[in-house]
Amino acid sequence: MSELAWWQRGVIYQIYPRSFQDSNGDGIGDLPGISARLDYLAALGIDAVWISPVYPSPMADFGYDVADYCHVDPMFGTLDDFKQLLDRAHRLGLRVLLDFVPNHSSDRHPWFEESRSSRDDPKRDWYLWRDPAPDGGPPNNWLSRMGGSAWEWDGTTRQYYYHAFLREQPDLNWRNPQVRRAMDDVLRFWLELGVDGFRVDVLWLLIKDAQFRDNPPNTAYRFGEPDHHRQLQRYTEDQPEVHDIVRSMRATLREYGERVLIGEIYLPVPQLVKYYGTAGDGADMPFNFQLLNARWSAGEIARMIQDYDSALPEHAWPNWVLGNHDNPRVASRIGASQARVAAVLLLTLRGTPTLYYGDEIGMTDGVIASDEIQDPAERRQPGMGQGRDPERTPMQWDGALPNAGFTEGRPWLPIASTASVREQLGDPSSMLSLYRRLLDLRRGHVELVQGTIENVAACGDVLTYERRYRDQRVFIALNMGSEDAIMEAPAGVVLLSTVTSRTGQAIGEGITHLAQGEALVASVRT
Ligand code: GLC
Repeated sequence: MSELAWWQRGVIYQIYPRSFQDSNGDGIGDLPGISARLDYLAALGIDAVWISPVYPSPMADFGYDVADYCHVDPMFGTLDDFKQLLDRAHRLGLRVLLDFVPNHSSDRHPWFEESRSSRDDPKRDWYLWRDPAPDGGPPNNWLSRMGGSAWEWDGTTRQYYYHAFLREQPDLNWRNPQVRRAMDDVLRFWLELGVDGFRVDVLWLLIKDAQFRDNPPNTAYRFGEPDHHRQLQRYTEDQPEVHDIVRSMRATLREYGERVLIGEIYLPVPQLVKYYGTAGDGADMPFNFQLLNARWSAGEIARMIQDYDSALPEHAWPNWVLGNHDNPRVASRIGASQARVAAVLLLTLRGTPTLYYGDEIGMTDGVIASDEIQDPAERRQPGMGQGRDPERTPMQWDGALPNAGFTEGRPWLPIASTASVREQLGDPSSMLSLYRRLLDLRRGHVELVQGTIENVAACGDVLTYERRYRDQRVFIALNMGSEDAIMEAPAGVVLLSTVTSRTGQAIGEGITHLAQGEALVASVRT
C-alpha cells in the first residue's frame, strides 16, 4: 500500500476534547486526558486523531470562537501538554490533526478588538464592516446560522459587522491579503510543531459576495428548519474565489511534506467535489457528509455510493463520515442494530473513514434537561431541535465508575448511557469488538483500502458491493432492513460478520441467507 499517503491508508478518529477524558476534575476533558487515552486509540486500530479546537477561547461556541490561534486554552492544558500529546501520539504511530477555524475569530481576539476600536484602525478591514441600510437597519438580508440577522451593530464606530454564526464570532475578511498572511502564519506555526494536518472549519463559507447582495428567498423552506434556510445562500457560501484560498492552504502544507488538508463542507456532491481542485492543488479530502442525513435504505445508499464515485475527479481520494459533533449520533439515527451495519459500511467503502468518538461503543445521544442546555445553537433557537449537546456527551470509559470514568468532578454534560469501553472490551459480540475487528481487517486487506468499488447493488433491503485490487477481492453484504433477508452472493469465506458465529464459514455461490441486522465481508476467489 506504499504508493498511498498515510491519510489514504488510514482511519481518522474525531475527538471532541471537552468530552473525551478529564484529568483534573473540572468536569471538562483536556489534553492530558487525551494523552492518557492514546494507548486505547492505538489498540483500537485508528491512524489519526482530529481534535476539535483547543485554542484559547471565551467558549461562546465551545472553542469555535478562537481568541488566539497559536496557543492552548488553560481549560484544556498548556502548549507543552499539546507537544507531549503530539510526541506520544507519534511514538504510537498515530497522527494528530488540528481544527483550523479561519472563517471567524472570537470577538475577544485582539485582531477584532483592534478592528472595532475605530474606523481608521489598520485592522478595520480584517473583518466585514458595513454601513447601515438607508433605514438604519442591517446592510443586507443575510442571516446567521445561529438564528437572526448576521449583522451586529457596533455603537462605537456606528457600523455593522458580519457574523455567519454567533455575534461573538465575527467573520474575517479573506479578501484582505494581510488576513491571508496572518492565517498562513498560523498554519505554519502548527506545522512547525509537527501536526499532521488540519480539518478546516466551514471552508466553503470563507468568502462572501464582494457586492454584499441580498440572498434570494428559499421557496422550499419548511417550518422547523433552521432560520437561515429561509434563504438560498447564494452570496454567502461557495463563492468562486474560495478555491484560490484552498489552493494557497494546500501549497503551504505541501512545503511540509505529507500533511493532510480536510475541509468541512456541507454542499451537494457536484459542488463538493470542486474543492478537490485540479490535480493536487485543492483539499485532500472535502468531507463527504452524505451518510449523516441519508435515508437508511439499501437503494438510497447504493445510489449515493455510485453517484459519489462517479462524480469524483480522477485524482480525488474519497472519504466517508458517519458522525460528528454537529449531528445526532448514528446509533440514535438508525438504532443499535443498524449502527453495527453502518460500521461495516463505513469501514469497507472506498475512501478514508472518519469515526466520531464513542460511536465505536455505540454511544447514543444524551438527553439534556432544558435548564442544562449548553449549546448556543439551541439556546438561540430553542425548541428547533438544533441542539448539539446530545452528541457531545462524555466518552463512556467504565460503567462501574462514577461518571463512566470520564471525570472525578461534575461532567459538563450528563453521561448518555451505560455502554462502556471496559464492559465491551471483553465481549466478542460487542460494538467495540466489531470496530476492532473491522479496523484490523482493513489493515490486513489491501483491497479494502486501495481497491476499486464495483457491482454496487441494492436488492430489497440488502446492499452488496465488492472491493477489488489486482487478484484480491472481497464481497460485502449489508442487511439494512428489519427482517431476515436473502441475497445473491459469490462463493467465498466469511472474513467478518456482525453475527459473530458466522465468521470463518464458507458461503456457496447463489442465494445466501442474511440475518436481520447482519452485515458481512467475505473473501472471494477471482
Ligand atoms: C463548524 C463546526 C461547528 C461550529 C461552526 C462555527 O460547523 O463544526 O461546531 O459551531 O463551524 O465555527
